Amino acid sequence: MTPTSPDAVPARRPLVSGNWKMHHDHIEALHTVRDLGLRLKPEDIAQVDVSIHPPFTDLRTVQTLVEGEAIPVALGAQHCNDHDRGAYTGEVSPQMLARLGVRYVLVGHSERRQHFAMSDDLVAATLRAVLRHEMVPILCVGETEEERAAAHTEARLSSQLEAALRGLAPSQAAGMVVAYEPVWAIGTGKAATSFDAEDACLFIRETVGTLAGREAAQSVRIQYGGSVNPENAADLMAEPDVDGLLVGGASLEAAGFLEIVRASRPVAPRGRS
Ligand code: 13P
Repeated sequence: MTPTSPDAVPARRPLVSGNWKMHHDHIEALHTVRDLGLRLKPEDIAQVDVSIHPPFTDLRTVQTLVEGEAIPVALGAQHCNDHDRGAYTGEVSPQMLARLGVRYVLVGHSERRQHFAMSDDLVAATLRAVLRHEMVPILCVGETEEERAAAHTEARLSSQLEAALRGLAPSQAAGMVVAYEPVWAIGTGKAATSFDAEDACLFIRETVGTLAGREAAQSVRIQYGGSVNPENAADLMAEPDVDGLLVGGASLEAAGFLEIVRASRPVAPRGRS
């Protein structure tokens, strides 16, 4: 894809998200978010959106703190059920999350696909449930080590994207976030190179274009996730099709996460695809 002038398309605002996974109880969450709030300066978030995705049991605590102390981070969740209510023991509905002020919901994280048998069909239904409640889905896609070795990365990404996005209105696709998280990079300390991350994110953008049109492709925000840390964040964010970062381990502690947020501030007009 030939880069066009940065003036030709509106800039995509970076989104840095902290996925805490199954870490931090509500007391630890309180300390971590308060610490983040004390450290965050207005210039840190002037050009970057930040979301925090704690476990379900922490959400109410974090919501109260963020609202009470006006901490400028968005509340995120890691998953939800695709139904609004019903006999689904152990599950949390999108309606409950929306009532709590949750803005972003991870959908189809590879750990859910792998450990909880979340199928492409269920990912698609969950994505629609999140949209139905006017929250923003962060659709997670990415290839395994074996798929990468077999040069099946693009085939995997396009099948995950097709299954999730088929039939969505272009405006719905435009407003969502896609996270490219290669499974082999998650929690391994082996992040993708910025070159490989860009390659995959550009491919994702082109695929969104095929499925939902050019405007949606230009608007959709694409994050990279997998062993992001304060050292590699700026290089990844310098790539034109990397619009944000989905951070696991390095988001658990406020100081390190803030370094990643700061490294994600746009430094110069970025070339856009
Ligand atoms: P790590 O940053 O710990 O590799 O986790 C990435 C991830 O899965 C975020 O959703």
